[in-house]
Amino acid sequence: MTGEQKDFEAAARAVLPEHVAAYYGVSAGSGAGEPEGRADWAAIRFRPRVLRDVSQIDTATTVLGTHVRTPVMVAPMAQQLGAHPEGEVATGRAAAATGSLLGVSTHTPVRFEDISATGVAWWFQVYVMRDRSVTELLVRRAVAAGARALVLTLDMNALLPVTVNPRNWPEGTAKTRLANLTAEELAVAGPDGIGTDGSVGPEIIGWLRDLSGLPVVVKGLLRADDAHRCVEAGADGVVVSTHGGRRMGPSTSAARALPEIVAAVDGRAEVYVDSGLRSGEHVAAALAMGARAVFVGRPALWALAGAGQTGVAQVIGGLTSELALSMQQLGAPTVADLTPDLIAGRGSV
Ligand code: FNR
Repeated sequence: MTGEQKDFEAAARAVLPEHVAAYYGVSAGSGAGEPEGRADWAAIRFRPRVLRDVSQIDTATTVLGTHVRTPVMVAPMAQQLGAHPEGEVATGRAAAATGSLLGVSTHTPVRFEDISATGVAWWFQVYVMRDRSVTELLVRRAVAAGARALVLTLDMNALLPVTVNPRNWPEGTAKTRLANLTAEELAVAGPDGIGTDGSVGPEIIGWLRDLSGLPVVVKGLLRADDAHRCVEAGADGVVVSTHGGRRMGPSTSAARALPEIVAAVDGRAEVYVDSGLRSGEHVAAALAMGARAVFVGRPALWALAGAGQTGVAQVIGGLTSELALSMQQLGAPTVADLTPDLIAGRGSV
């Protein structure tokens, strides 16, 4: 982790109410999975090249056809009004300014139109709710507001301690309600209706595609067989993720799972990864192992809380500069030159 990111976490914790910082920082179980996930990225060793022209480095790429100046994207994260009065509007401006892309959570307390007005390219993250008609409403509104893809999250937070769960935040619903549903729609669905539907199968991917007309990315994969099933069911992308260590303490890490998923997908969909990426070297490793781009979560959120839009832009810009330096050192002038032969032990940790 760079010093700057550590500073943002400390700055955020200094200003945030304890329950908000606890929700942002929490991980599942003993909490060991989160630092282990970071350590697995840090354990990767490179085989740098020489005698390549690295006088110009280009970090730009495309994600599902959208041009981005950096493969460092911002993960969908709930409850950003707890971090900053503008929430995803500030995060979105920072992502737009750095040529990145923003994931927008189902649980955003900010209106889609306000996020779109920042000019950021954004993907809408979908939790399929028990009341399917509510999911449908949200997806239709996200499409109308300009979302460019759907991110179907299939893993979830482990059970949150009562005091940490945003539902119980003393701020009340002003900061935590789903801003893209009306009070009436929320009342009709009820708390049970907006809970996550644990019964969905692969057909949900086609349902979302037909409903939205957008590409569907499936988030929360850690196994080759699941990745294969998702691609067979029509997924355009997959995100290898442990939800930042929030799903299950003793699960494998994203760095460990990435190679088998890249192999299973075999170029049929784009592969992205998140959870524990904290430096440009980690990003370079992920891309060399076959990821098209990465998402960062907590570093952006701490920066939002500690330093607003400027802080988020510094995190994305900082990781991108570090990535460019790593590319130079590796003899990889473009992201396409980040290939598995750069990894010692051929892509495994
Ligand atoms: C998340 N994450 C998440 N993911 C998702 O699909 N929908 C969501 O609403 C949320 N909400 C959320 C809130 C907070 C506070 C955190 C920290 C995370 C998971 C997120 O998208 C991403 O997978 C991880 O944050 C990536 O790991 P790092 O970068 O935080 O280690």
